[in-house]
Amino acid sequence: MKRNVIVGQSGGPTSAINASLAGVYRTAKDRGAQNVYGMLHGVQGLLTESYIDLSDHIKTKLDAELLKRTPAAFLGSCRFKLPEIHEDMEVYKKIFGILDKLDIEAFIYIGGNDSMDTIKKLSDYAIITGHPCKFVGCPKTIDNDLAMTDHTPGFGSAAKYIGTSMKEIIRDGFCLDYEHGLVTIVEVMGRDAGWLTGSSALSVGEDCAGPDMIYLPEVPFDLDKFKKKVGRLLKEKTSIVVAVSEGIKAKDGTYICEFGNSIDFVDAFGHKQLSGTASYLASFIAGEFGCKTRSIELSTLQRSASHLASRVDILEATQVGGAAVMAADEGDSGKMVVLERISDDPYQCGTSVKDVHKIANNEKLVPRDWVNKEGDYVTQEFIDYVTPLIQGDVSPIMVDGIPRHLLTPKELSHR
Ligand code: F6P
Repeated sequence: MKRNVIVGQSGGPTSAINASLAGVYRTAKDRGAQNVYGMLHGVQGLLTESYIDLSDHIKTKLDAELLKRTPAAFLGSCRFKLPEIHEDMEVYKKIFGILDKLDIEAFIYIGGNDSMDTIKKLSDYAIITGHPCKFVGCPKTIDNDLAMTDHTPGFGSAAKYIGTSMKEIIRDGFCLDYEHGLVTIVEVMGRDAGWLTGSSALSVGEDCAGPDMIYLPEVPFDLDKFKKKVGRLLKEKTSIVVAVSEGIKAKDGTYICEFGNSIDFVDAFGHKQLSGTASYLASFIAGEFGCKTRSIELSTLQRSASHLASRVDILEATQVGGAAVMAADEGDSGKMVVLERISDDPYQCGTSVKDVHKIANNEKLVPRDWVNKEGDYVTQEFIDYVTPLIQGDVSPIMVDGIPRHLLTPKELSHR
């Protein structure tokens, strides 16, 4: 590389997203890039010329190590949808003008399926106008719903946190005997894909029976069947724990959270904010059985728990960041780096690149045959797929008993 690289982060953050940023930075520098710029708040920030020079922030080896252990998007994120090219050429002219001013040869975007829409449109515009800049996507999402890749960086760490928290919740449930029993409903993110919720089954082991039921959005949720199963279980045990996806829907497509006090927020890509499924179901069960209920929304915790990150995940996140730069340097554009599993035992995984047009705005859901016939648990195949992704730990760098993070450009500007 002879000129400059720019990198952005977009969409929902993860505990591994900054490891990808560290991978982009290191590889770009190793390959000879002069400057590596970071867009502040993705392409939305770029449009207002908000960017930093990453070498002002990653000065030492310790900075790079801290960055890998810092959750949430270091550069700031956005959920920003570029217009169709034919609808508003001015936006594209503006972006490419800024890229020319910064002498950019490679544009790397770390994100999920909505963010890959940005890579798709920018690379299409570059082809139309004969612009030489290369646009490459770097996969990231806790939801694990990106097409063409075996899995996505960020998912393994979130899955490890969910499996661990589920185990702790199950144990807690058994220590007090409530007169009419206790039903705990745990709500997990993932939108319309159940990869994260299914990962609650990772809690199963010699010392834990796992949750009693697991409901994924891939299977229509039947409230009556659910009630009957809870009623049956309440006769057998004092504590029941149920994992539910934030995106479970009734047969007619209505999100279960919409039956309760759901929030009406919709983002630029038309996604409704899904929240309140567990609290709705907990109130429903309390009303039906008069038992004690508790609803737990894992919410932000599941995507920011870097103290429990998976080593495999952090290593792969770093690797895909580097692979994105290499791909751009070797002439690829309009592509996303994918992870390709070579074997499960021993676990081995490599990278390659795939056409972003086949990835952007698509969703990879849990196959129906990885959910049991009743639609209330995942199969062993599901568990075998996720298990290698949560292996190993990344020790936090502890200061005064608390993990230390790398201060973001925004935090530094407020000091
Ligand atoms: O796409 C990742 C994700 O974490 C989803 O699982 C979740 O539905 C969504 O982001 C939440 O987004 P926000 O933080 O913008 O509410």
